[in-house]
Amino acid sequence: MQVIVTGGAGFIGSSVCRHLIGATPWSVVNLDKLTYAANLDSLASIAGNERYRFVHGDIADASLMRALLEEVRPDAVIHLAAESHVDRSIEGAADFIHTNINGTFVLLEEARRYCDSLPAERRAAFRLHHVSTDEVFGSLGETGRFTETTPYDPSSPYAASKAASDHLVRAWGRTYGLPVLITNCSNNYGPYQFPEKLVPLMILRALKGKPLPVYGLGENIRDWLYVEDHAEALITVLTRAEPGSTYNIGGASERRNIDIVEAICDLIDELAGPHPSGKRRELITFVEDRPGHDARYAIDASRVQDELSWQPAHDLASGLRRTVQWYLDNEAWWQPLIARGNALARRGVYKTAWRAVTAPVWAGAPGADRSTPRSTR
Ligand SMILES: NC(=O)c1ccc[n+]([C@@H]2O[C@H](COP(=O)([O-])OP(=O)(O)OC[C@H]3O[C@@H](n4cnc5c(N)ncnc54)[C@H](O)[C@@H]3O)[C@@H](O)[C@H]2O)c1
Repeated sequence: MQVIVTGGAGFIGSSVCRHLIGATPWSVVNLDKLTYAANLDSLASIAGNERYRFVHGDIADASLMRALLEEVRPDAVIHLAAESHVDRSIEGAADFIHTNINGTFVLLEEARRYCDSLPAERRAAFRLHHVSTDEVFGSLGETGRFTETTPYDPSSPYAASKAASDHLVRAWGRTYGLPVLITNCSNNYGPYQFPEKLVPLMILRALKGKPLPVYGLGENIRDWLYVEDHAEALITVLTRAEPGSTYNIGGASERRNIDIVEAICDLIDELAGPHPSGKRRELITFVEDRPGHDARYAIDASRVQDELSWQPAHDLASGLRRTVQWYLDNEAWWQPLIARGNALARRGVYKTAWRAVTAPVWAGAPGADRSTPRSTR
């Protein structure tokens, strides 16, 4: 098998590349634009492997994608390249539209062209696996979980751009017969995550004894999955799922944000020793909420479990402990990221009358049966 991984220098993509090289005999070409979120150090353990190759480029560059597909002649493309941070999408969505929507469109067109050039048997075996998020479904109320048939209802520019890309991928499957797969996964955490996301942000701020900014009242709920379990799920879906199918992936680990932050504080107190100024929980400060902050996400992963026999190997307690320990042990990985800019800074504050605009949306609007207020305020 020859596999192209897009976005393989990012958090999940690097885990997928390491997993493919470590656990399969396949050859991997990692195509990545190397945005601020990329880090080739995450691939140091496989960089010298003869089955691994890195290519620097943009998925929205049609001639590059055409040449790469013709040269590599892959059996599969795992598409993870994206702008992925909600708060950045609130500050400016242009890069999200460029990569997540236009880039996915270019990839689909070039994959279609490449696929049409293949003999029938190889064409039927080809897969384009699009990696997406549960954020496309919008917010849940206090009960219920997202299934593969939950209607799309994205709230943030990031979620909307991923929803658009999911629709494009599905349409290319239905219209052109491109053998596509889509997975929608819950929040990932684990080693090698850029420190602007909740878990590494809180770990590194807590380590340094800095205030721990928690949005709103910290009551927004996310469903957490250890990144290596996600990588394994992606390979499972890629190799076993029928073309045209969709699977939700999650770890059945719903927690309020405040619970995650408190757990991190306690783990750092235990593993790194107490901070001179006291217990890390005392660093928690509640700050202005994220605009359009979805109240709750929860994944029903029974389909991938029942049909493809995938189960996460890590529960949240063991995964979080491993993650905190990894950041403690790998300062050489994250220190340059901190040094090169404001990775730990607050982003995406948008001061306007948005609450007045969005407050009535959940009362009596389509989908209101599954939507409680979008903000926890
Ligand atoms: N992180 C999560 O919790 C989560 C959950 C579900 C789904 N996802 C999805 O998984 C994928 C990977 O997420 P992540 O957290 O690893 O993201 P990330 O931000 O850590 O990595 C994204 C990678 O894509 C690359 N990239 C960006 N634009 C590109 C372009 N135009 N051409 C080529 N490469 C480009 C970046 O350089 C980076 O290496 C995304 O599609 C995301 O929507 C993420």
